[in-house]
Amino acid sequence: MRQILVIGIGTGNPAHMTVEAIDALNAADTVFIPTKGDEKAALAALRRAIVARYVTAAHSNVEFALPVRDAAHPDYQRGVAEWHEAIADRYETLIADMDARETGALLVWGDPGLYDSTLRILERVRSRGSLEFTVRVIPGLTSIQVLTAAFAIPLNTIGNPVTITTGRKLREGWPEGADSVVVMLDGEKSYEQIDPEGLHIYWGAYVGMDEEILIEGPLSEVAADISMTRDAARKQHGWIMDVYLLRKA
Ligand SMILES: C[S@@+](CC[C@H](N)C(=O)[O-])C[C@H]1O[C@@H](n2cnc3c(N)ncnc32)[C@H](O)[C@@H]1O
Repeated sequence: MRQILVIGIGTGNPAHMTVEAIDALNAADTVFIPTKGDEKAALAALRRAIVARYVTAAHSNVEFALPVRDAAHPDYQRGVAEWHEAIADRYETLIADMDARETGALLVWGDPGLYDSTLRILERVRSRGSLEFTVRVIPGLTSIQVLTAAFAIPLNTIGNPVTITTGRKLREGWPEGADSVVVMLDGEKSYEQIDPEGLHIYWGAYVGMDEEILIEGPLSEVAADISMTRDAARKQHGWIMDVYLLRKA
């Protein structure tokens, strides 16, 4: 039966690859590399660099254009569902093109279990019923781990939970009872739109990469600096990925 390896590659530093991930990559007959858009171009280059550095076994690279989400869709949930359906179509074609006993590898940014839909979309392909394949996941370093390591801080305070959320959700209000909140997928500088009183922010862009930028401090004092730095970096590189931890004093 066909096998799909979903390999976590870490957050942009080839040295984030685990030995398990390297071994899995070398077991693949085909490595699938998504491309499209400025951001995806940079990420595709990183994936190519990982393959060039670590794969010694015979294999082929297959690049494919990953459908892009319609950010202007009036219904967010529906927009995401339509986007996933379009990616599922693409995956289905790629998997159907594999020989029946082949192994394919999808290189997933960070860890496949954290704010990534690859596994959900593969399940969607399987549920269509036209293809049989197995899925194996190889975990990767998440941007959260790389962020807290960069600041040399623990993720949680003693004995307390951590909330992981999106910029969109943060704008709806501070999570009930939380003292440590990690915010991902925030294209809107949501930290500017909440009450900064008593909050410390640990902000990182391009964490783990050569371009890494880190800023920390009381939110009321550093928010403007983060926004200015973020705008400039985005302009310079054409894309940005940032993640931050908000801690209540
Ligand atoms: C689609 S999610 C993927 C998360 C990924 N699976 C992980 O384990 O970190 C993309 C978000 O992850 C965060 N992210 C991923 N890589 C990052 C990096 N190198 N620097 C800063 N944030 C990053 C950002 O919040 C970005 O909006």
